[in-house]
This record gives sequence, C-alpha cells and structure tokens, in this order.
Amino acid sequence: MRTKITIAGAGQTGATLAHWLALRGDVDIVLYDIVEGMPQGKALDLQQAMPIIGSDARIVGTNEWGPTEGSAIVVITSGMPRKPGMSRDDLLKVNAEIVQSVTRNAVALSPDAILMLLTNPLDAMCHIALHVSGFPPERVFGQAGILDTARFRAFLAMETGYSVAEINAYVLGGHGDDMVPLIGCTSIGGVPVSNLIPSDRLEAIVERTRKGGGEIVSLLKTGSAFYAPSAALAQMIDAVLNDRKRILPCSVYTGDNGGGYGVSELYLGLPAVIGRNGVEQIVPMELTPDEQEALQKSASSVRELVNALRNFDPPMLP
Ligand code: LAC
Repeated sequence: MRTKITIAGAGQTGATLAHWLALRGDVDIVLYDIVEGMPQGKALDLQQAMPIIGSDARIVGTNEWGPTEGSAIVVITSGMPRKPGMSRDDLLKVNAEIVQSVTRNAVALSPDAILMLLTNPLDAMCHIALHVSGFPPERVFGQAGILDTARFRAFLAMETGYSVAEINAYVLGGHGDDMVPLIGCTSIGGVPVSNLIPSDRLEAIVERTRKGGGEIVSLLKTGSAFYAPSAALAQMIDAVLNDRKRILPCSVYTGDNGGGYGVSELYLGLPAVIGRNGVEQIVPMELTPDEQEALQKSASSVRELVNALRNFDPPMLP
C-alpha cells in the first residue's frame, strides 16, 4: 500500500505542496478544502500533469474527510493568510478555531498520523493541534524554521554570489518578527559569515530575514508566501518518509525539560532530528549569551499568544 498524505487547505500553499509531493511519484495525496470544487479541480489538473512529468502520484481533491482516512501524515495549512499591515498574531482567534476543527476531523480518521502545521500564528497553532489531537508531541510539529533559514540563506547567496549549497545557517525561535538567526553558526564554504560580509550588511540581511514573510505579503497584496513555505514542508515530509534523521529547524514542543534551551512546555523553532517517528530529538546548540537572550524574548512572544488562547471565552487551551 502506498503512503497517503493529506493536505488540509488547498489554497496556494496546500496546492503547491501537492505539486512538490506529486513530483516524488511515490505517495497518494488527498487535497482537502471546504471550498466546493476547488480541491477537486486542482487535484484533477495536477493528476493530468502526471503523464507529462512521468509521475505515478495519485491526487484526490475532496470536501469530505472520508478520503483522508488512514493518512500517514496530515499537513494543516487551513486558515486565513495575512493581509498587508497584519501581523501573523492578528490571525490568532480565527485560525485557532479553524485548526481546532480540522485537527478534530483529521485525527478521527487518521489516529496514527503525524501532524505538520503551517497555519499562522504557527507556534500557537501547534499548541491547539497538540491539545485537540491528544497525540504525543513528537507527532505534532510545525514548519517555520526551514523557511526562515532558507530566506536567510537566499539573501546571503544573493549578497555574495556563492551557491546556496555552500551556505550553512540556522534561524531559531518563534515564527515571528523576533526570530533568531544564529550568526555564530552561519558559514559560507566553512568560513564564518562575519569574515565575509561587513557587519552593517549582515545586520540588514538579518532584518530582511525577520521581515521576510511581511515583505512578500506587501508585494502580493492578497495572500502570503507559498513556494518556499511548501518546499519546506516537502523537505520535512521527505525526512519522515525516508527516516532521514535530518536536523531541521522546526516548531517543536520543548516539554518539561525545556528542550535543552531553558524554555519549558512551549512550541518554538529549534533544531530537531526528523525521522520516521516525527520529532525524534531536540538538538541542543551552543548559543551566545545574546542569542540565548533573543531566544528567550522570542519564546515570551509565543507564550503571550498561548496565554491569549487560554484566556478566550471559552478557553481554547487548558
Ligand atoms: C511567511 C508566512 C507564511 O513567513 O508565515 O511567509
């Protein structure tokens, strides 16, 4: 039997993820959305591309949950995107309600699935999915750090002209404007980035990375980024399907030991080993005091949102 992957939310990100996954040819993809006809139309169009690219992927579009039954992975992209001028946090209540209902429906039919979240505000939405699913935290995690890191790497490549393949970097923290690019761990061809790029330019690149999502929102005017976010999800899915044990920055649950970063019981972007079982380990990295402080600040922003979910009437988290 082939692996079934459900993508909840067939908007730009969901549909583009379906496209990346269809290129693999080895999975069945179910594209779910509440908008009548839209997931069916996109799935059929994509299915008709398969003879051209020579892929045996099977893609089904649906407005019902039935076809999602038995999924190995459920990706949740459902929710409202940002409009120009909005922060990811402005989406909190409306998207929490959507993620609540999508998670409930999805896990009823796929109780052994791994849940991957993309809906913003990402880290807070992971808390909702963890709570509603009752799954262990290793099977509930979110995509953000790969995207934020990819933006940073793309800007460094644009600045230096070197191949992106030579650029190693990590961006940690919550998926918000106070995310934490780790300059000390960033190198190009093994050379520390601060030896190659003057500090004022580097600062400007860090700032552009932090605002990377907003830059695209203001250019697009309707909707937010989707190529890079969906490529990041495809990389996480590949790590699970092939049990690759890749170390990828993802939004993961730190648990009561703080994940080695002194931040307990919170979803936060940290480097994690991703394999067949989902999040197999949080990898402790050595942070400078400044980076540690920035991570704590980013964690408090996430905690504020989580507390806001607890304070809604009725509360959305215990
Ligand atoms: C971004 C949105 C998708 O960063 O969070 O582009």
